[in-house]
Amino acid sequence: MTLLEIEQNIRKLHPNIDKNDIKLALMHVYDIKNYSQYILNYDKTYYPKKKLDKIIVRLDHGEPIQYILQEAYFYHRNFFVNKNVLIPRPETEEIVSLILEETTNTKQNIIDIGTGSGVIAITLAEHALHNVYGSDISLRALRVAKKNDINNKVTFIHGDLLRPVINNNLTIDIVVANLPYIKQEDIIDEKVSKYEPKKALYLPTNNIYRRLFNQTKKLNVGKNGLTMYLEFGTNQTAELVTLSQEIFGFDVIYEIIKDMSGKDRFLILRNLYGNKSI
Ligand SMILES: C[S@@+](CC[C@H](N)C(=O)[O-])C[C@H]1O[C@@H](n2cnc3c(N)ncnc32)[C@H](O)[C@@H]1O
Repeated sequence: MTLLEIEQNIRKLHPNIDKNDIKLALMHVYDIKNYSQYILNYDKTYYPKKKLDKIIVRLDHGEPIQYILQEAYFYHRNFFVNKNVLIPRPETEEIVSLILEETTNTKQNIIDIGTGSGVIAITLAEHALHNVYGSDISLRALRVAKKNDINNKVTFIHGDLLRPVINNNLTIDIVVANLPYIKQEDIIDEKVSKYEPKKALYLPTNNIYRRLFNQTKKLNVGKNGLTMYLEFGTNQTAELVTLSQEIFGFDVIYEIIKDMSGKDRFLILRNLYGNKSI
């Protein structure tokens, strides 16, 4: 059968499976490197493979393609993922791009808190001169992050939020964090709630942002002050702004940035503990 016929067959038999997931499965099984190559190979004949059938069964059950193939695309490369880490989201690429733009030609000490698969920390370290740390409360997640850091550019540390950085007396200029932000009452896709790690998804009940902001008071901050880039969830804007003002003062310099779908998604806190006249 040709590649196009195989794709059409699967789509007919499994209308519930996302057509892009079918393409990714076929590319994986038949070792097709990219989408343009895939289109060019539409008329080529391929032979049935048991591996493909197994992937289709798992997709049919709703398992995310990234966990099945153990890879997820982020900022121009594939990262290894497994059930111990969140599947990186496209919105997160936006905060990474922004940090890279705002820090061009500088060398900053950056900590990515809740690094998960390491996508933020590793991308920042690979695309700039920065000295990057990645921390997580989950040792299993840190194992995945280390595996992804093929050029050993990031220092990974274990612990709660900024605790490991404070304990090691490291100097930090930038904090970036995509902490769990889904509230228990939020209705989310079953594919997400069933397969992705709870620790990476759900906002803990122990005031995670209050603790994070309070921890910065004990942090060794670089001479130009501290900038925090935080990715957050729907309906958290007012809560986070109020908390920032409560902890850092009403004159705190902050910015809310929307993601590509127009939702408030990022909070940037600038010049914390720095020179207020800047
Ligand atoms: C939403 S995931 C983000 C993963 C990755 N940074 C990304 O953007 O794809 C949140 C991560 O925070 C970690 N985490 C949760 N609570 C934490 C805490 N108190 N201290 C450090 N990391 C924590 C989870 O284990 C998880 O890996």
